[in-house]
Amino acid sequence: MKAGHLFLLAWAFVGVRAVAWSADSEVLRPRVPIDQIESARTVTNPFPVTPDMREKGKALFEGKAFCRACHGADGKGLGIDLDYSTFKGPLPRNFTDKMWQQARTDGELFWILKNGSPGTDMASFIPLVLTEEEAWQVLTYVRSFGEK
Ligand code: HEC
Repeated sequence: MKAGHLFLLAWAFVGVRAVAWSADSEVLRPRVPIDQIESARTVTNPFPVTPDMREKGKALFEGKAFCRACHGADGKGLGIDLDYSTFKGPLPRNFTDKMWQQARTDGELFWILKNGSPGTDMASFIPLVLTEEEAWQVLTYVRSFGEK
């Protein structure tokens, strides 16, 4: 192999790694604005996490709150058989991403359900679609994707 080819190969390898890294760090970047994040993080789930709560959350996720339409029944986001190059804006979160699950407090996720993720397709669901109690139910179910 010529030296030039080797160089190109090395360059491609570094390039691919850089893209993978920036995709991850973009997902992990906090969504709650910096001036609200401290107070958002102090918010905790006031309800005991029980199997019943998770079941209610699943029913909401797949039913009236239609989370499933974007995040998928398996929580992995839109299907992999789509042509993402035609999509605009951030993709729905993959809830099975353990690094993402660890990066977020419950309070930050609750903030998202109240405010949406501004500038993306992730809308606000409280109070229009979900009560606060229902939001905690659905978030209990969202958390369960991280345990699989
Ligand atoms: C119309 C499509 C759509 C629907 C319906 C939807 N989401 Fe999302 N969701 C998104 C998108 C797109 C993002 C990524 C936003 C971003 O990158 O900031 C997202 C991100 C999220 C996040 C991650 C925010 C973060 O801090 O990283 C959570 C949690 C979430 N959605 C929960 C839900 C729940 C729960 C429901 C149902 C009540 C729901 N979503 C319904 C599109 C949707």
